[in-house]
Amino acid sequence: MRMVLGIGAGLALIGAMLIGAIYGDKMLNSNDNAASTVATAPSTTVEYAPPSIEEVPDGPMKEAILYGYDLVNETNVVAADFVGNQLSCTSCHAGAGYDRDSSSLVGVTGAYPQYIGRSGGIVTIEERINGCMVRSMNGKKFAVDSDEMEAMVAYFAYISEGIPVGADRDWAMKNTMDDIPVPSVEDGEKVYQQSCIACHGADGQGIGANTGPALWGPDSFNDGAGLSRIGKMAGYVKNNMPVGAAGTLTDQEAADLAAFILSQDRPEWKNHDKDFPGMERPTDIMDKEKRQQVKDGTIDWAKVVGK
Ligand code: HEC
Ligand code: HEC
Repeated sequence: MRMVLGIGAGLALIGAMLIGAIYGDKMLNSNDNAASTVATAPSTTVEYAPPSIEEVPDGPMKEAILYGYDLVNETNVVAADFVGNQLSCTSCHAGAGYDRDSSSLVGVTGAYPQYIGRSGGIVTIEERINGCMVRSMNGKKFAVDSDEMEAMVAYFAYISEGIPVGADRDWAMKNTMDDIPVPSVEDGEKVYQQSCIACHGADGQGIGANTGPALWGPDSFNDGAGLSRIGKMAGYVKNNMPVGAAGTLTDQEAADLAAFILSQDRPEWKNHDKDFPGMERPTDIMDKEKRQQVKDGTIDWAKVVGK
């Protein structure tokens, strides 16, 4: 029911049939997936079958799970005070984390605590969520015992049902391009004009968090977010964009698009110097200094992509 209302409201808002159809499709897909839960028997292959958000069992957890779903799906609206841009978690984790290919969050509660190099230590699920809040959402952290954080964790635990702790989730962390071709900003701009402006706008400001989110500018993620790295942006775009024709771009086109998008101005992350403690800083992070080099024409793209 919530989703039907969501689609209706989305349609009314954007009034664009094409986008409505695509959005609707995604929702249907996540419902198709939702048939059954997996048995918790230890096994090497884990089935991708998260329970549907339409079938949350009655009980003390239900309200929190549904609130968590809303927080993840419409973060910029439902948690506006904490979000510093116009994105939702769904802007990058499509279908509120249900979409298998778009940095799926199914099984994520069993994958934490986990060692993360960027933090240089063990990170809990709450800290990982807050990592996306301060970087990808350019916002503020939720207190660990806040209603918002508890609801998000309840929701992620729900869609992770049946996935054993420490299981090998073969759908997770797939959106990184390891061998990045040396990109061209000019070529990226051409592909952008052709394949991306319908949903993200010629000015990159988008049409809505879940229909075409802002790719740069004040309403987008800051340059400390994962997607501010050429390798992660290129991998994400290659695997997921354009919506409706994912998988049609070459590695070169995806790298060109990543270079074009990440050469534009965006909010700045203030704590770059604290990231990746004790290790070499990845060369493909597009921070203010590199954006300036693009403007000056002094950037060494081969070095950025490690060639
Ligand atoms: C601008 C894009 C973007 C937005 C918006 C975003 N994330 Fe992420 N998130 C990422 C990327 C990129 C990763 C790393 C995953 C990968 O490399 O495939 C990630 C990883 C995660 C992980 C760890 C996943 C794993 O498998 O270990 C969690 C949990 C997470 N995000 C939660 C959230 C939540 C909650 C929100 C909303 C408050 C959010 N994210 C918003 C881009 C985003
Ligand atoms: C038909 C509409 C559509 C087209 C065309 C499209 N996108 Fe998207 N894009 C979306 C939607 C919707 C999302 C939110 C995630 C999802 O639903 O998959 C998104 C998310 C993104 C994100 C992550 C969120 C953010 O704010 O950074 C990036 C990056 C992105 N698109 C890049 C591109 C690029 C590059 C192209 C062109 C090759 C493109 N998109 C074409 C609809 C579209």
